[in-house]
Order: sequence, then structure tokens, then C-alpha cells
Amino acid sequence: MTEAAVLSDNPAAGPIPFIDLASQRRRLGTRIDEAIARVLDHGQYIMGPEVKELERRLAAFAGVGHVVSCSSGTDALLLILMAWGIKPGDAVFLPTFTFASTAEVVALLGASPVFCDVLPDTFNLDPDSLEAAIATSRKAGLTPRAVIAVDMFGQPADYRRIGAVARAHGLKLLADAAQSFGASLDGRPVGGLGDATATSFFPAKPLGCYGDGGAVLTDDADLAAVVESLRVHGKGSHKYDNVRIGINGRLDTLQAAVLIEKLDIFADEVAARQAAADRYGRLLAGTVQPPTVVEGAAPVWAQYTLAFDGRDGVAARLKAAGIPTAVYYPLPLHMQTAYRPCPVAPNGLPVAEDLARRVLSLPMHPYLTPEIQERICTALRETLRM
Ligand SMILES: Cc1ncc(COP(=O)(O)O)c(C=O)c1O
Repeated sequence: MTEAAVLSDNPAAGPIPFIDLASQRRRLGTRIDEAIARVLDHGQYIMGPEVKELERRLAAFAGVGHVVSCSSGTDALLLILMAWGIKPGDAVFLPTFTFASTAEVVALLGASPVFCDVLPDTFNLDPDSLEAAIATSRKAGLTPRAVIAVDMFGQPADYRRIGAVARAHGLKLLADAAQSFGASLDGRPVGGLGDATATSFFPAKPLGCYGDGGAVLTDDADLAAVVESLRVHGKGSHKYDNVRIGINGRLDTLQAAVLIEKLDIFADEVAARQAAADRYGRLLAGTVQPPTVVEGAAPVWAQYTLAFDGRDGVAARLKAAGIPTAVYYPLPLHMQTAYRPCPVAPNGLPVAEDLARRVLSLPMHPYLTPEIQERICTALRETLRM
């Protein structure tokens, strides 16, 4: 999501916002201002009491033993891989149809991101492509260490099958839940679906703060302790006792204070996102295939993403009609300049390449009204007919 998409929201002015943070702010009234004022008064900007309080509340929400907040979703991924000791010569498997962070953190540690294909209906990691990529990476002399499953657009990946492949090959399973905090699979909330989970509080995410933020969620107490140390320069018993190489990866107290207020209304917002997705499904029936929700999944609908031919023309006509859309992602990572040298699954990544040409995301947020969705879908129906 671009900053422009986040900042262009002013529903009162008429244009349809892609993501409507202004309505959420109106709903919260003075609560966020008061929470920020409390931080300004106590002055503990770094690791203030709100940070621990937020971690406690997030753990309760997701039903996990440990939450370590941090400075971004990217750092959450990085901290987990650092704690697992991922290093040069290691292979870490991930879908090519994702945001750069998922691969970047692997490369930053000197390990090899190995790109796998995704499934055409859910846009999530294809377990068969994963299996094939593991065999190929072994032949190339790499040591398979971990798989990162990405919950694209807010729907959990197929943790049942991916988990089985990971266990069979002795791989750690990292859930990149940057887009899916608030979703669940088989009644189990995101946060407990892998060995460790990374999420993002980027403003446009379903649970977003007013800057950068993220968190590591896990039931593994030892892992949580190492991540806590890594987050503060690898601290030991105190911050000037460095027992490992770490980073400055803390979440600001101000962002924690904002998130505590937003978490209070989050369950209700997740329900509103589901209602909006249901409405889209009804309004688009017979026009275009709605997104596939797998059996047992309750997505959080970070994005409402369709796939169809002629995407660019449709997007341009919708823009002319005042309907904002976005393309996540126009180029899979294995085709990006920085990642072209990285290994890929043996049979290529045709599904991701095809999706990159066909996907289009419609406005999605908890404050979409039936009238706005009607307007969006009428315009989409008309542009698809042209
Ligand atoms: C799939 C995925 N992984 C990781 C990230 C990184 O999160 P952040 O922007 O908080 O670093 C994002 C953010 O857009 C994402 O969509």
C-alpha cells in the first residue's frame, strides 16, 4: 500500500478513499489524542508502560503466549530469522508473489531466498511448489532451514499442508502475517499458526498505527526471550551488557498508545470488513469471480482483490470514474532487479507471473457504506463491459 493511498482519504470531500483512516479517527473521537497526551505527560517515549500493556493485549487477542512488539513488520520478520540463526548457505523458502520485505530479510542475513509459486485462487504459497523448491535447493548445495508463508491480502496461507511439508523437512515455519492480523484458520487466530508470526502495524494494515510498527507473536518462550534481546541491540541483563548482535528494533511508546485504542474497536472493524466483503461478493456476482475463501478460513480482508484479463484498461477507466484501485503486486519478486539472481522452484513461477498481470484491489476498509460499494461495483460492471 502506498502512503498516497493512506493519506488521500477525506470522505467528506466526495472522492472515494481507498483506505478510510479519517472515518476511524472520527469514530475514536478524542481517545487517541488523550492516549498520546498521557505519553507526553509521563515522557517515557522509549519502552514506556504502554508497550508492555499493548503486548499483553495483543497476546490475549491472538491467544498466544508471547508478543514482542517492534519497529515494523520487516523487523519482526528479521528478528525471528536472526533468533533462529539463519545464515549464509541456508535456504529460506517463500512465495514470489509478496511484498519485498519477505525476501529482503533473508538476503540481509546472507541466506538465500528461494522463490516458490502461489495458488491461482488464494494467491498464497503453493505447497507443491514448496516441496519441489526444497529438493532443488538441496541439489544446489543449500541447507533448507525455514519457510515463510505469507497470508496474502489477509487470508491465512494453507498452514495445514505447509506445516506438514515443513515438519517433514525439519524446517521452521514463519508466518508473514503483515496483512492478516485478526484473521483465523480453523478457529485458530493468526499468531499461533506457525512456529513464529510476524505482523505489521503500518497505517494501512487492518490494525495500523500512526507510523511504523510491528510485532512478533509466538508460543515459544525461548524464542521470545531471544527476540526481546535482539530488539534492543542484543542486550543481556541490562542494555549495556550485549550478549549477541542485535538491532534497534523497538516500537515507540506513542505508537503503542495509539494501537491500544485501536485494538479496542478492532474486533468490530474485522466484522465490518467481512460485511463489506460479503456485500462486494453479492454485488459482483455474475460479473467477476469474487476472491476465494478456503474452507475454515476467516480472512481479515486487508485487500479485496480480483483477477481478470484487461486489468490495466479497467483500472484506468475506474480511475477516470473516480474509483481508486491498486495493483498488489505488478511484478513478482523473482522478476525484480534485486532478486533476479535468487533460486526459484524448478518448474518456474507461472501462476505468480500471470497474477501480476491480472490482479486489481478495490477499496476496502471497515467504513465502506453500501452506497459507496454500489457505486464502485456499478462502475466496475460498466468498465468490464467496455
Ligand atoms: C506481506 C508483507 N510482509 C511484510 C511487510 C512489511 O511490513 P512493514 O511495512 O511494517 O515493515 C508488508 C508490508 O506491507 C507486507 O505486506
